[in-house]
Amino acid sequence: MGEVDPAFIQDPEHRPKLSIIEAEGIPSIDLSPVTLQDFISYPKSIEGVVREIGNACKEWGFFQVINHGVPLEKLQRIQAAARKLFAQPLEDKRKIRRDERNALGYFDTESTKNIRDWKEVFDFSMEDTTLVPASPDPEDKEEATWTNQWPEYPPELREACEEYTQEVEKLALKLLGLIARSLGLPENRFNSYFKDQSTRIRLNHYPPCPSPQLALGVGRHKDGGALTVLAQDEVGGLEVKRKTDGEWIRVKPTPNAYIINVGDIMQVWSNDRYESVEHRVMVDSDKERFSIPFFFNPAHYTLVKPVEELIDEQNPAKYRPYSWGKFMTHRRLSNFKKLGVDNIQIYDFRL
Ligand code: OGA
Ligand code: NI
Repeated sequence: MGEVDPAFIQDPEHRPKLSIIEAEGIPSIDLSPVTLQDFISYPKSIEGVVREIGNACKEWGFFQVINHGVPLEKLQRIQAAARKLFAQPLEDKRKIRRDERNALGYFDTESTKNIRDWKEVFDFSMEDTTLVPASPDPEDKEEATWTNQWPEYPPELREACEEYTQEVEKLALKLLGLIARSLGLPENRFNSYFKDQSTRIRLNHYPPCPSPQLALGVGRHKDGGALTVLAQDEVGGLEVKRKTDGEWIRVKPTPNAYIINVGDIMQVWSNDRYESVEHRVMVDSDKERFSIPFFFNPAHYTLVKPVEELIDEQNPAKYRPYSWGKFMTHRRLSNFKKLGVDNIQIYDFRL
């Protein structure tokens, strides 16, 4: 990636401002009452955490967690392996490139809303294979599998990824339970949807960009899944659209914290109580940046709809049911076939 190709250039209204707003950041929530619960029980303070999470989901759609229970050495190990992977020659990385049939592997030509993102990624799934619909066509019942593609180098990448994701999954499940409780639902209300989960983990590398005022690492978007658990490094660049005024707010890197955001599925499950919020990534002219999102996604055959306990005559369902797998495959295809229109959105299922 040298000169900025016109394919990367954002429309003027979406270009990042180089003056950054960091005031009034997203809430930071201390999970110790939850992560220490094996040793001592703190019923009172767990209630406090549930309330904080509920407020953060309502007001921001984003929050950070500290004392989250993911061992720092697991994060450091995957970060070091990611650095080594992306430092490989392009021709080696392209040996494990994802394609139309397999969404997992290396990719350097992703677009968001038809503008190229200034990044390269490596995707893998929790299980070595993920079952997905073969096509977005609602009538087509055929299934396909996505398979993890591990590079030869660095050899420790696979184990680092597997060990890291086991730990982050525990955190994601805790958060799912806390979010359920904050909605007045039983803690395990959403768990069954994750039995054959389609969770995907991404290693992101944002190289330095000669024109950070014209391009974005990832263009504005919402995450389509249930919940995202993101590790960012010390460089910073993630911006969240503040709900109160639509201003883009930089998420300041906090050492050993995870950034959590609710995705579109949680928006639908909660019948709009918790909205999935737009975010984007700025790039830097000198510094490269690495991040690792864990996209916590249910089984592909999950029919997503507002949970029954949250709807009644005063609060009718705002969405009709849709298939998560079909939604996901539809989104994915747009990376290979440039669509003239905006990609599929949950808005398309609004009643
Ligand atoms: C994403 C994303 C944020 C980041 O990959 O969906 O929003 O900081 N990434 O890399
Ligand atoms: Ni995102």
